[in-house]
Amino acid sequence: MLLDFDHHRADRRALSIAFKPEPMRHYAGALDRGIAERVATWSGRQMLFYPAIKELTLDLAADSFLGLPWGPEADRINKAFVDMVQAAVGVVRKPLPFTKMGRGVAGRKFLVEYFTREVHRRRAEGGGQDMFSQFATATHEDGSLMPVDEVVDHMSFLMMAAHDTITSSASSLVWLLAKNPEWQERLRAEALAITGGPGRPVRYDDLGKFELTEMAFKEALRLIPPVPSTPRRALREFEFGGYRIPAGTQVGISAASVHKLEAYWPEPEKFDPLRFTPEQVAKRHKYAWVPFGGGAHMCLGLHFAYMQIKILMAQMLTRYQIEIEPGYAPKWQPWPIPQPKDGLRVTFRPI
Ligand code: HEM
Repeated sequence: MLLDFDHHRADRRALSIAFKPEPMRHYAGALDRGIAERVATWSGRQMLFYPAIKELTLDLAADSFLGLPWGPEADRINKAFVDMVQAAVGVVRKPLPFTKMGRGVAGRKFLVEYFTREVHRRRAEGGGQDMFSQFATATHEDGSLMPVDEVVDHMSFLMMAAHDTITSSASSLVWLLAKNPEWQERLRAEALAITGGPGRPVRYDDLGKFELTEMAFKEALRLIPPVPSTPRRALREFEFGGYRIPAGTQVGISAASVHKLEAYWPEPEKFDPLRFTPEQVAKRHKYAWVPFGGGAHMCLGLHFAYMQIKILMAQMLTRYQIEIEPGYAPKWQPWPIPQPKDGLRVTFRPI
């Protein structure tokens, strides 16, 4: 994400092989198996959804991103990764012992060593169909492999880009469906019609049929965008809202604000997935909805995100009614990535 122009274009093209239909079909199978297994254990329990989906998303990433089975090695990598991300919000900015920064720097060191070792191994022995193996063996247009340290950096970034965003948006969708049981029912009916019964496998070829689920997810991304603001730098001078912005200025594009503009979104606080019917979308400004950014850097993993959320919703809603206590309204920490402050208390009542 921090590269630009030719280097960015070349790497983005090389990495995009990991999101082609064949690998995506492989990830879909891994996601469906992992989600079904974990969701089955949530039956009848009142639980905090946010930490549960965070843990599940990490475990799923070990499988489909790294090609590792759930177990001690995956746990060690997940811990290093969480420590590294946590360091970003540490108050002490030096890697002193017992501080977030200390743990974060140690976590990053562990990950860099692990990824470096594994790039060499997967290049020599051939990897699996997981995302990391695809990256490790990705080539530029002239057939050259990417430098090892760049594969390592891309992989670290990819895990960050994928993890908290999916965790945040899965939580907001679960919250909005718990608050809007009529929509929960419509998505349940859709999932049952497509999969054929409670907890049945979700087939990759059927993902396009989850139209209402996709609209509800888009509406959750509108109301609580996981990336509230996207940074850019003005390449040339331009004018916006009566202000002259000189070339070189840092610009923040706020999805959180744009998604609430009444001119594009009547009753902006209302949860209404029907804003995303093809007819409504065609009538709206192309950039009125930007949870995945736009232009040259637009999110590379958005189809992966749709896939994971559709499978998760189908596995949950065909088994359970998602319930909250009357009057319950968790506070959301808005920044850097939105999350429910109390962890989001829900009950999965078996149907
Ligand atoms: C709901 C989930 C997600 C949201 C809301 C989201 C949002 C974003 C946003 C706003 C950007 C910056 C776009 C820009 O600057 O125009 C971005 C970039 C990116 N995302 Fe996502 N993302 C999500 C999930 C994922 C997943 C699952 C992956 C990978 C599997 C991923 C991989 C990436 C990558 C590689 C970039 C950098 C692209 C580039 O700079 O060319 N994202 N994402």
